[in-house]
This record gives sequence, structure tokens and C-alpha cells, in this order.
Amino acid sequence: MTATLLILPGDGVGPEVIGQARRVLDWFIDRQGLEVEVREALYGLPAYAAHGALIDEATLAETRRADAILFGATGGPGYDEIPTEVRRAGSLLRLRRELKVYTNLRPITAWPALAAAVPLKAETVRDVDMMVVRELNGGIYFGQPRGIDGDEGAEVATNTLTYATAEIERIARAAFALARSRKGRLTSVDKSNVLETSALWRRVVSRVGGEEFPDVALEHILVDNCAMQIVRDPRQFDVLLADNMFGDILSDIGGAIAGSLGMLPSASLAAPADAATARQAALYEPVHGSAPDIAGQGIANPLGAILSLAMAFRHTFSRPDAAARLEAAVATALAGGARTPDIAAAGEAAGSTAAMGDAVLAALDTV
Ligand code: IPM
Ligand code: MG
Repeated sequence: MTATLLILPGDGVGPEVIGQARRVLDWFIDRQGLEVEVREALYGLPAYAAHGALIDEATLAETRRADAILFGATGGPGYDEIPTEVRRAGSLLRLRRELKVYTNLRPITAWPALAAAVPLKAETVRDVDMMVVRELNGGIYFGQPRGIDGDEGAEVATNTLTYATAEIERIARAAFALARSRKGRLTSVDKSNVLETSALWRRVVSRVGGEEFPDVALEHILVDNCAMQIVRDPRQFDVLLADNMFGDILSDIGGAIAGSLGMLPSASLAAPADAATARQAALYEPVHGSAPDIAGQGIANPLGAILSLAMAFRHTFSRPDAAARLEAAVATALAGGARTPDIAAAGEAAGSTAAMGDAVLAALDTV
């Protein structure tokens, strides 16, 4: 059966970057025998304008059936006018949770061609190839109770951080399995000197490691120190496991290693398919947001979206060859001087979103 991909371009620069990912996808379908049936649907402000919801029921039903979803971006000024219930009902966070995609993979790669453009020293980031594994379905972004109560001027705001043992076990297993397939090293991030959730996190990760992955070397690190260590010497890390909020924050630092936030892809995966589930739900999205300040100008970096597509080739469509080819084409395009403004060093000419798409497509023919 042909696999299905649902594309949700979303808000802001989403449609611009996804447009280039789509060209690349079509190249693989036309030229490399990639068997994928592609559908596109509205999400976010365009969907709200059309249906009064961020995602309409028919599209929601499609997200539950699709083998993979490629998502652009969410957010922007227009969201302030959308009622809170409508916003929550269709939020990206909710979608991630409904799809049960609890394993968020955020690779952080140093690109040799961008050495002059990265904010960190070139020798600090050289050869960095690490993976942040972020827990995506739990923690403080979802905890109840939450809200802002009280009289104006004296409001009290509440959020709740909860992690259950089973939630920690499943993400720990995913991270250990990945670490085993890479360098056999895992670093788990927490704030166990202050938070009970982190104390449990540390205990459960240690137990899962000891019982099921004794061959993987496990280290624990406090989140504040981890942030400093990633900037000081990122090469010391291979796989970093973090809860939802810590992973959100730490993965953005990757932008300073890869060249810009616009370079970072992600994959969010549900539990591996078994007889009961038949398919492993998967959501692929660039880490960057909707970037309202540059939306509509045609200058957003499409590589985060394009590299997310490569992750879909690898994790959903069982085409590691296509993933490797696409990643090589990105490296070649960058080596050939293709730049969007976010990754242009002083004195380098920057081109458009579409020009970057052109460069990747041209490189696909040569790699
Ligand atoms: C991310 C983003 C999202 C998150 C926002 C847009 C809800 O920051 O994917 O990292 O917090 O997960
Ligand atoms: Mg984030």
C-alpha cells in the first residue's frame, strides 16, 4: 500500500518553506521512485478564516490516518483575536498529544560551509552531530491545573509539572535505543537538585538503563550546566535526553551550532508500530516558528523544512538512501554558496527561499 503524507503548511513563513520542501518531495517522487501519496490541507490562521477552527474535523481525521505529517509553522499576530478555547482546541501541542508522538528527535549538525556564519567559534562546533531527544507529550506544557486567576493587578498564574513513571520509561527507552544505534552514550538532563519530577526522572532513567541498556553509558547532567556545556563544548554530547520544556529550550541552542534556527529539523514519533497499532504516527516539522517579522518576504530559510522531509524519508518511508541523498544535497548547496539571510556571514550574498530550493534541487542531480 502506498504511504500517505499530509502536508500542513500553517502560518507565517510555513507555506514559504513548505513550498520548497514540496518541490524537493516531488523530485523524489518523480525521479527516485518514492511511493508517497501527498495531500495538503489548511492549518492555523488560514483554516480559522475558512472554517472557524485552527484545524477542521476532516483534516483532523486525516492526521489520524496519514503515515506522516509535514508541518510548517504555527503562530503570529492574528492569534490574539482567536478565542482561547478555539486556540487550545486546535493547537500544535494538542495535535502532538492526540497523535501520541512523544519522542521528539531534534538533530543538531554543524555544516562545514557555514563555519563563518555560526555565532559560536568555528572550532567549537566543528563536526558536531548530536541528537536532542525531547519528551513531547507531558510535563509542564500540559499539566493541570493551569490558568490565570484573581483580580486585575493581583492575578496569580499557575502551571503544573507532572511526570508519571510510565511517561519517563517510554521516552527513556526511545533515547537509549537511539544511543545504542549511535555511539552508545546517553546524557540525561534534569534539575534533580530542586524538582521532584526531575528526581523521579533521574531514578527512572537510571533504572531503565541498568535493566535494559547496560551497554549504553549513561550520564546525568543538570539543565543549567547543560546549557553552558552545549555552548562551551558541544562535541562532548551525542544523545541528550530531556523533558518537554528543557528539551524545548536546549534544542534552540542548536541554532547557534547549525548556523540558525532555520536550519533545524525535527521528527516526532509515536510508539513503534506493532500488531495493535499497525502504524507509527509521525509528525515532521522545522524547529523554527512562524517568524511573522519576515513572513511573506520570500527570504525564510527552507532547510529546516527540507531536512525534516529527509527525516520522514528515514523514519517513516524506509528510504534511508533518499534521506542521505537529500542531506548530501543540502551540504552541497551550502558549499556552493547558497544562503538565505539568516545564514549569510558578513560579506556573503543572501538569496531567497526559492533560490535555496533551486540550489538543493540542482545539487540533487549531482550528489
Ligand atoms: C517548538 C516550539 C513549540 C513548542 C511552540 C510553538 C508551541 O517552540 O516546537 O520548539 O514549545 O514545542
Ligand atoms: Mg521551541
